[in-house]
Amino acid sequence: MAKQISYPIGNKEEIYISILPQIEALLEGEDDLIANLANITAVLQDAFAHLWVGFYLVKSEDELVLGPFQGMLACTRIKKGKGVCGIAWKEGKTLVVGNVLMFPNHICCDTRSRSEIVVPLIRNHKVWGVLDIDSETFDTFDGVDQQYLEKLCDEIIANKEYK
Ligand code: SME
Repeated sequence: MAKQISYPIGNKEEIYISILPQIEALLEGEDDLIANLANITAVLQDAFAHLWVGFYLVKSEDELVLGPFQGMLACTRIKKGKGVCGIAWKEGKTLVVGNVLMFPNHICCDTRSRSEIVVPLIRNHKVWGVLDIDSETFDTFDGVDQQYLEKLCDEIIANKEYK
């Protein structure tokens, strides 16, 4: 049987509201992208305890490469347009998949995964990478996750200079 979500669903928004200032403080004090992404995965994992949380970064015209993450080992490279991550990159928009088993294009890195959200990191209309979160429970992610994670991704990439 799929694992239950480890936090009360009604409190999801409160959790995002409570971690955003922490993430903003991290970003303000550091201009190394990898260091920031690494700490943000740790904050998200500590807050929500999802199955997997991490970033894939655009490293060439047609490929994402695995970045900082928390969870089990994952596929290292994803082609543009492939998997939920590659589609979110290609379309430049967030994808919420309630049941990955019914999503033909899903790339399975962990057989326990049941639902997923992928949010692109966009600066000046260009995608730099994606934030990917996987859950062991169906329909874990909704408009609340999308709203806060898009805000988070904006803060990471849109308004910040990196070395
Ligand atoms: N499920 C993703 C692949 C990455 S892993 O889940 C960490 C996808 O379909 O793009």
